[in-house]
Amino acid sequence: MVTLLTFAAVLTAALVTQAKPTHGGNDPSYRHTIKAKGIEASFIEYGATLTNLWVDDKNGIPRDVILGWDDTTQYNLQSDIPGFLAAVVGRYANRIANGTFTIDGTEYHTPLNENNITTLHGGDMGFDRLNWALIDTGKNNVSFKLTSPDGDEGFPGTTDIIVKYSVNDNQEWHIDYEGTTDKDTIMMLSQHGYWNLDAFTTSETVEDHVLQIASDKFFKTDGSLIFTGEFSNVEGTALDFRSAKSIGQDLQEATECGFDCIGYDNCWIFSEPNPDEYQATVYAPSTGIQLAIKTDQVALQFYSCHGLDGTLPIKKKKHHKHHGHHDRRCNDDDNDKQEYVQKYGCLVLETENYVDGINNLEWGEEHTGILRKDDKYTRHAEYHFSVRRDD
Ligand SMILES: *[C@@H]1O[C@H](CO)[C@@H](O)[C@H](O)[C@H]1NC(C)=O
Ligand SMILES: *[C@@H]1O[C@H](CO)[C@@H](O)[C@H](O)[C@H]1NC(C)=O
Ligand SMILES: *[C@@H]1O[C@H](CO)[C@@H](O)[C@H](O)[C@H]1NC(C)=O
Repeated sequence: MVTLLTFAAVLTAALVTQAKPTHGGNDPSYRHTIKAKGIEASFIEYGATLTNLWVDDKNGIPRDVILGWDDTTQYNLQSDIPGFLAAVVGRYANRIANGTFTIDGTEYHTPLNENNITTLHGGDMGFDRLNWALIDTGKNNVSFKLTSPDGDEGFPGTTDIIVKYSVNDNQEWHIDYEGTTDKDTIMMLSQHGYWNLDAFTTSETVEDHVLQIASDKFFKTDGSLIFTGEFSNVEGTALDFRSAKSIGQDLQEATECGFDCIGYDNCWIFSEPNPDEYQATVYAPSTGIQLAIKTDQVALQFYSCHGLDGTLPIKKKKHHKHHGHHDRRCNDDDNDKQEYVQKYGCLVLETENYVDGINNLEWGEEHTGILRKDDKYTRHAEYHFSVRRDD
């Protein structure tokens, strides 16, 4: 009897141990970390958000190159500072003109959460503000699932979304999206990371980052960033990144970014996307850290963070491996003065489909973003990090 009781107690203890939140339990702000050679990334269930991405700079010092909060509960509490911070955006990324679209004769309305005239990134409570569920994790991968019910933010159909993040020994971060629906709907998913490849070690802005975008066309927009349906050639404009140039070079001439602003908030398209080539490459001469992006999505939005205004704190934990090296803002000391991300302090590169394709049927069915009942949405993007030593 005593033996049995003891056994039961041990068994209960074992079960309790197992039920402990080894993978964060139900805590949507618990960091799930995945690793491979030269790369380490952490994610939380809230927004399926990337909270940290560590890669080595040209001196072998690990740098966290993604903006975010040290305290991961702040992603939810401060979800406007700025919005969409390194989260998955959906159900329909970027903008829907007038928050209105039609599928097979039925009109749908989505929230006008930008300037009261457009739907931006899925509405008031887009996928970036929802708690995803952890469904799988391994040493180098983690997968999150979200069910968005019929009528969620005005979109038709109950949809199941899975995003799988993985890293590999080639210093690549891969994103695989999958989506299904029980009713015809529209779907366009993207990842909204705000990058600073200098990791704020030498500069407050990304103006010295060198960017290349392999595209000769971008979407014309009006003041509300609504796409006019026209394509423009980059030739002779500030938007010509076919040859690598610093973001600062023509920044003052970049004014197609909404009402009364200077900066880039534009969408380039890839006429003949080549799955073996990178669509965009950006690096910081200071750290040598380079990011090259490859995707099967046919467009790329580049935003130069002109909306950042000194309210998002710069993470204090700039390196987690003690190496005795000290440089500007590279410090784990909590007593250090808090610094904040300034205007142009980051860049966002969103891989996506043609923006507002659902309201521009002339671009063709493949660009509407319509996902039919029983079809499967699959998209892929990869972010390849490396170090350049030529500067
Ligand atoms: C915008 O949508 C509303 C319905 O929400 C409609 O009444 C109005 O005509 C639309 N405006 C334009 C310019 O399409
Ligand atoms: C948005 O537009 C509606 C309808 O025109 C109006 O009633 C409402 O006050 C506006 N909201 C804001 C925040 O401007
Ligand atoms: C994730 O990694 C583990 C190994 O750590 C592997 O067994 C599993 O198949 C991977 N899952 C996916 C979805 O790739």
